[in-house]
Amino acid sequence: MSTNRTFTMIKPDAVANGHIGAIINDITTAGFKIVALKYTKLTAEKAGAFYEVHKERPFYNDLVGFMSSGPIVAAILEKDNAVEEFRKLIGATDPSKADAGTIRQKYAKSIDANAVHGSDSDENAEIEGNFFFTADERF
Ligand code: TYD
Repeated sequence: MSTNRTFTMIKPDAVANGHIGAIINDITTAGFKIVALKYTKLTAEKAGAFYEVHKERPFYNDLVGFMSSGPIVAAILEKDNAVEEFRKLIGATDPSKADAGTIRQKYAKSIDANAVHGSDSDENAEIEGNFFFTADERF
């Protein structure tokens, strides 16, 4: 995966609240191209592995429970400077601190159920994309 790509998930809260279409529209309107897309549900084991980096954090068990509580949408997105541009589009981790017009400000209700994931580095974007998609599932 090249560095103009990032990885995202629409999290269980946003899926359950019917925001898949609106969020994908925000993403493509902002100029991101979808190069891989999947509707799936994480087991607790898979969610635990995905968030392994947060294993020692106090919110880890709740995060794993939440991320495996319902279906999610996973996607790989392409745009110049994708990781940074996408973090700007989704806004701060805590939606009460997210800028107006960002995805989390519009669709998230709390810091733990915050509507979307966005990779925080090129390296993690590649690792996370590989976690969900095989080579023949991305274009
Ligand atoms: P983090 O990597 O800090 O945020 P971001 O998703 O913006 O990169 O945290 C990962 C996820 O962990 C975050 O999206 C939601 C959850 N989380 C909590 O549930 N409570 C918290 O206090 C924090 C910091 C994160």
